[in-house]
Amino acid sequence: MPTLETTFDARTDDTLTLLRANGQFKTLQVIEGPMDATVRLRGYGEVACFCSNNYLGLSNHPEVVKAGHEGLDRYGAGTASVRFICGTFDCHLKLEQRIADFYGVEAAYTFVSCWNANEAIFPTLCEAGDIIISDELNHASIIDAIRLATVIKKGLLKTVYRHNDVAALRTRLEEARANPQMTGTIWVVTDGVFSMEGDIADLLTMRALCNEFGAKLVVDDSHGTGVMGHTGRGTHEHFGMKATEIDYFTGTLGKALGGAAGGYVAGSRRAIDLLVQRGRPTLFSNALPTTVAVSAEKAIEVLMREPERVQKLRDNVAYAREGIRQSGWEVLKSPTAICPIIVHDTARAIALSRRLLDLGVFVIGFGFPVVAEGHARLRVQISAAHEKQHLDALISALAKLRQEV
Ligand SMILES: Cc1ncc(COP(=O)(O)O)c(C=O)c1O
Repeated sequence: MPTLETTFDARTDDTLTLLRANGQFKTLQVIEGPMDATVRLRGYGEVACFCSNNYLGLSNHPEVVKAGHEGLDRYGAGTASVRFICGTFDCHLKLEQRIADFYGVEAAYTFVSCWNANEAIFPTLCEAGDIIISDELNHASIIDAIRLATVIKKGLLKTVYRHNDVAALRTRLEEARANPQMTGTIWVVTDGVFSMEGDIADLLTMRALCNEFGAKLVVDDSHGTGVMGHTGRGTHEHFGMKATEIDYFTGTLGKALGGAAGGYVAGSRRAIDLLVQRGRPTLFSNALPTTVAVSAEKAIEVLMREPERVQKLRDNVAYAREGIRQSGWEVLKSPTAICPIIVHDTARAIALSRRLLDLGVFVIGFGFPVVAEGHARLRVQISAAHEKQHLDALISALAKLRQEV
């Protein structure tokens, strides 16, 4: 009779052996300097980076880095507490005010990650008798947060609609209205920019549907904030909508907004107050590190002061997308900074990304379980930090790869 420990060891070894044998084993690349247009990669030297979320080039911006140093000097290394005990520092309030001002909404509250923000919002704001209607390709943190919410709140309903299909959403809304168990609030939740496809939610139509059915609209715009719209306010700005037309935003500070870490919920004061009182990640998990709070606040300040960064990103995206097409690869169409090249097979995606590294270009191959089986891809991400020479390096490496395959 094998012991439990032996069973675990054996099945884990089997899984890892199989991944290696199938060419699906992910190797973590090690970066030995700051995140920027190029990075110093262990074993490869300086390579052009096309897989970070450093969309606006703020991760290594001198003012953002300086602010982080100042935060460390002023507040020390750790908060050593959750927010409601003694973990709320004045820099948290300043950052949250900055986020609320950036959107033009009543209030915001920060978490150590957007994953945490999503795990806070649904289990806290939703109740038994409510229903959550979610896009099938929403980010894993939304999917897991909804699962968690339905475990914590018995009688909370959930359903999924086909990706970006507003007709399917309408059907789900009609079903919800007709469901006798649905006695509370309807919540519709979507990514603003979908992280793997790089496409965007049709927020205008979704708002109209939510109005028609009296539903709340929650948008996780982690990949849209700092990227979409003229001033980088996000996907709603791309559609010419006011932030107040979205009931609640969740987002990350770990991408365009300085890239360190942290997430937030932004929206009505009443919802934020409830999160402070009842959110499990707010009651049982440490505050965002103060260094990060200070540097993220500076990153948003730089973005608000220099919206031309967003335009540079947009120009870079247009140039890169055209170049990728001319290099012979098909790239999914969208106005975002995410340019997926579908190669279907996970092992192939990993092998192609390794070859690109040999050619001096860092692009990650994504396969199962990050995307569905058969939908593996190279995901090229563009940044305002890139100059023409970086984009040209990407395009010529892709052209070479195309010839080789
Ligand atoms: C849409 C979306 N939500 C949430 C997250 C998680 O963000 P964080 O890294 O802050 O937990 C991501 C990150 O990939 C994301 O793309």
